[in-house]
Amino acid sequence: MYVLGIESSCDETAAAIVEDGKKILSHVVASQTDLHEKYGGVFPELASRRHSEAILPVIDQAIQKSNISYKEIGLIAVTNSPGLMGPLLIGVNTAKALSLSWNIPFIGVNHVEAHLYAAMMSSPNPSFPSLGVVLSGGHTLLCEIDGFNSYKKISTTVDDAVGEAFDKVASLLGLPYPGGPPIEKLAKKGDPFRYDFPSGRVKRSPLDFSFSGLKTAVLYQLQKMKSPLTNQEKCDLAASFQQAALSDIAEKTLLASKTYPCQSIYLGGGVACNLRLRELFQEKIPHIPLYWPDKELCTDNAAMIAGLGFQNFAANLIPSPLSLAAITRS
Ligand code: KG4
Ligand code: ZN
Repeated sequence: MYVLGIESSCDETAAAIVEDGKKILSHVVASQTDLHEKYGGVFPELASRRHSEAILPVIDQAIQKSNISYKEIGLIAVTNSPGLMGPLLIGVNTAKALSLSWNIPFIGVNHVEAHLYAAMMSSPNPSFPSLGVVLSGGHTLLCEIDGFNSYKKISTTVDDAVGEAFDKVASLLGLPYPGGPPIEKLAKKGDPFRYDFPSGRVKRSPLDFSFSGLKTAVLYQLQKMKSPLTNQEKCDLAASFQQAALSDIAEKTLLASKTYPCQSIYLGGGVACNLRLRELFQEKIPHIPLYWPDKELCTDNAAMIAGLGFQNFAANLIPSPLSLAAITRS
């Protein structure tokens, strides 16, 4: 079955055609980074307007690149939660309109679960029960995965998401948005142990995350330093921040793997692109198979939405009703 995936929950307008949940025939992402860069984060109203302009051309491009006809599409999968309300509504309403006019079913997909499905798309036979680790700009969580359609949250962040912490620290260092890639780049030339930044322990909740204290520690360190910073100081700050944030995630995942049944670990979300993160997981959890999405499927995309939509539809063949709501929280 060919599935059209649609994603518009935040600042990427994306569409993809995926065959039987795994084979990606096309995937197109129109990023809005240029629009939000000067605000250091996503401006929801501007994001909605850009989505409404981009969504049909992006879908059109995905169909053309896939070399199939729209008449061969059997299902539409669309992100309906979580995300920003305006952006979600544009994707959901587009899916409803196309479903009506093409006379095919559509299904709402959870964006966070789809980030984990992105890692399953490249693993031959996913094994369950497993642990899921979602690390993005909006989410940081650990969950139990019992099947393609069964996710149970174990822990989450009590304040900032890890990607948000990368973005905020990047802004403190005068780096562009989104902050993850430039911080990773600087960190490669820096000393990860030059500054002793705290890991975010949450009282009585050893698996929960907290990144706001770490961000404030970087701010206080900066205030003690003479400006302008040397390039080496910037690299050391980036490396020390990255080390504190990412080793905390690897350690908490290791702890969770001792508490919950775990045959493998699936990771997803924009921060899962980070190569230092991959090294730290390999170092600290060498005994459990780790599955990472292809780099371009770590950040927001519609291939993961089409893929998980296919699995959910195949499991019980129940499409979403036309009354399907956009829901901002998962
Ligand atoms: O998954 P995603 O595209 O969007 C959400 O669902 O939030 O994640 C975007 C986040 C941004 O905060 C960005 O700074 C971060 O992922 N990110 C990275 C890297 N690439 C993107 N963080 C650390 N290292 C990276 N290489
Ligand atoms: Zn995302």
